[in-house]
Amino acid sequence: MATNITWHPNLTHSERSELRKQKGVTIWLTGLSASGKSTIACALEQSILSRHLNAYRLDGDNVRFGLNKDLGFSEADRNENIRRISEVAKLFNDSCCVTITSFISPYKQDRQLARELHERDGLPFVEVYVDVPIEIAEQRDPKGLYKKAREGIIKEFTGISAPYEAPEKPEIHLKNYSGASIEDSAEQIIEYLIEKKFI
Ligand code: PPS
Repeated sequence: MATNITWHPNLTHSERSELRKQKGVTIWLTGLSASGKSTIACALEQSILSRHLNAYRLDGDNVRFGLNKDLGFSEADRNENIRRISEVAKLFNDSCCVTITSFISPYKQDRQLARELHERDGLPFVEVYVDVPIEIAEQRDPKGLYKKAREGIIKEFTGISAPYEAPEKPEIHLKNYSGASIEDSAEQIIEYLIEKKFI
C-alpha cells in the first residue's frame, strides 16, 4: 500500500456525461467457459458502436495476455483478476463508455466487489448471467479445454474442478441455449439499456 499519495479531484461523472453527451455503464457478463460470453459481448459492442456511441469490451483471455499476464486460475489469482478488471471497468465507465466485460468471474464475492466499487462512485453496473448448463458447455468445448480438464491436463477448471457460483439476482438472465441466438441475447441487453436510459 503506497503512502504519501493524494487524490486529485476531477470532473464528476455527471459533469463529464453532460459534456460527452453519453452516460457510462458497465455490463458485467458472467458465465461458464463456452457459455457464449465473448460472442455476446462482441455482438453487443458492435451494436452499440453502430449507434455512434462509445463502447469497449474487456475480455477474459485477452486481458490475461497483458494486464493480468502474471495471474493463473487459483482462487486467489481469480480474485485479483476480477479486482483489477473491476477497477479498469470503472475507469472506462467513468469516461462515459459502455464498458462490456466478459469474464467467468465465478465467485459471488468478487462480482459483489465489482458492483460495490462501481456503486460507491455512482457508476451504473449491470450484471448479466450468461446461463448454459455445464453439459452443454462441455459438449460445445470450442477450445478443447473441458476435454483437457476431464483428462486432468488442466487443473482448477471452472465447472469441473473449480466452482462456479451462479448469480441469484442478476439484472439480466440470458439462457444462451435451446435456440436463443446471439443477436437475440445482445438485443435483450440493448433493450434493458434503453429502458434504463443508459443509452
Ligand atoms: S476468471 O475465472 O474470471 O478469472 O477467468 P477469466 O479471466 O474469464 O479467464 C477465462 C478464460 O481462460 C481460459 N482458461 C480457463 N478458464 C477456466 N478455468 C481454467 N482453469 C482455465 N484455464 C484457461 C478459458 O479460455 C477461459 O475463457 P472462456 O472465454 O471463458 O472460455
